[in-house]
Amino acid sequence: MKHSNGLAVIAIAALALSACNNASKNESTANAENTNAQDSVTACSSYLDKKYFEDTADGKPTDLYVLKNSNGACVAITNYGGRIVSIVVPDKNGKPTDVAVGFKTLREYQGPGDAYYGALVGRVGNRIAKGKFILDGKTYTIAVNNGPNSLHGGIKGFQAVVWDATQANDSTLSLSYVSKDGEEGFPGNLTVHVTYTLGGDNSIKINYAATTDKKTVVNLTNHTYFNLNGEGSGTILNHLVQINADKYTPVDATLIPTGKLDPVAGTPFDFTKPTAIGARIDTAANQQLKNGGGYDHNFVLNDAGPSLHQAAEVTGDQSGIVMDVFTTEPGMQFYIGNFMSGKSSFKSGANDNYRTAFCMETQHFPDAPNQKTFPSIVLEPGKAYNTTTVYKFGVKK
Ligand code: GAL
Repeated sequence: MKHSNGLAVIAIAALALSACNNASKNESTANAENTNAQDSVTACSSYLDKKYFEDTADGKPTDLYVLKNSNGACVAITNYGGRIVSIVVPDKNGKPTDVAVGFKTLREYQGPGDAYYGALVGRVGNRIAKGKFILDGKTYTIAVNNGPNSLHGGIKGFQAVVWDATQANDSTLSLSYVSKDGEEGFPGNLTVHVTYTLGGDNSIKINYAATTDKKTVVNLTNHTYFNLNGEGSGTILNHLVQINADKYTPVDATLIPTGKLDPVAGTPFDFTKPTAIGARIDTAANQQLKNGGGYDHNFVLNDAGPSLHQAAEVTGDQSGIVMDVFTTEPGMQFYIGNFMSGKSSFKSGANDNYRTAFCMETQHFPDAPNQKTFPSIVLEPGKAYNTTTVYKFGVKK
């Protein structure tokens, strides 16, 4: 008895010791992982600290993830709104340059200074006139949050939800979100998977996939604001832009397409040859520039899916950084930061000043649910929504 009791004591002590060892091993592995993750973050961008993103929203954990390659590129993404917070690539002299504007903290993304910075946008990106559309004879109403219209999926669109994140390796981040039937007024449970992949060639591929259990409308995009000279380096009006579009969709004063596809030839919308963004911005007589407050228009891309086609090329006039945009989508909203107010500050400390960043939101056309002649954004049960866009970075010396 005595003997076996003694053994039992030894066994319990051994178990306790090993549990304790395991616990401290787990803790130290976790700490090491955290330190590595934080090292990755600071190595990617000295402006960023993971701790300002480690939080919760809607009861779900938020964090900051970093993709990196061996070619000097890294991308920081938070699963709050699936937002690209930072894209660091080398400039023409090899200097690491952060070409995506963003905030330092989760709180700022949740605050009034946010303008969809870096975000995944949905369920329907861009505008829906008066926040109403009809599907199979039934009228659906989405919140009016932009003048008389609905913008970017309503009040709490995909930019403000927490995505489930899985990072398998240094190059891929998978995000998932289930948007409930009725969420923001849209019909059907929509299951969305977005994958960000950083290639060895300094390309960021975004694949968007979705399925629904009821007929619905879907138009997903990414709202990263780029400044190819680097965040905080001032105006983007001297960037050179080429857009592979012979037509665009003119808009009314509330930025709803008139339904026409107008030729760009002979107008300030002709970017078929590389042209400085600001070269024709003050064309006083152009009603479309007045309506948009500058460029804030959907370009009808000459080529569209199913395979990737080049939509645009942009060159930073100071950095020599070139961004090529490829997409399977038929349209691209070219927005040049006309609403940037200068009231908030970005991660570098620079303010969000007027026209210091631009967006190239690849998409189906604005107000598609109400425009019979535009490509449809209706998704039916049993069908797969699948689009891809690539932003590829290089340099011109
Ligand atoms: C763009 C839209 C602009 C503006 C911006 C967010 O996608 O075209 O008009 O609303 O988002 O500030």
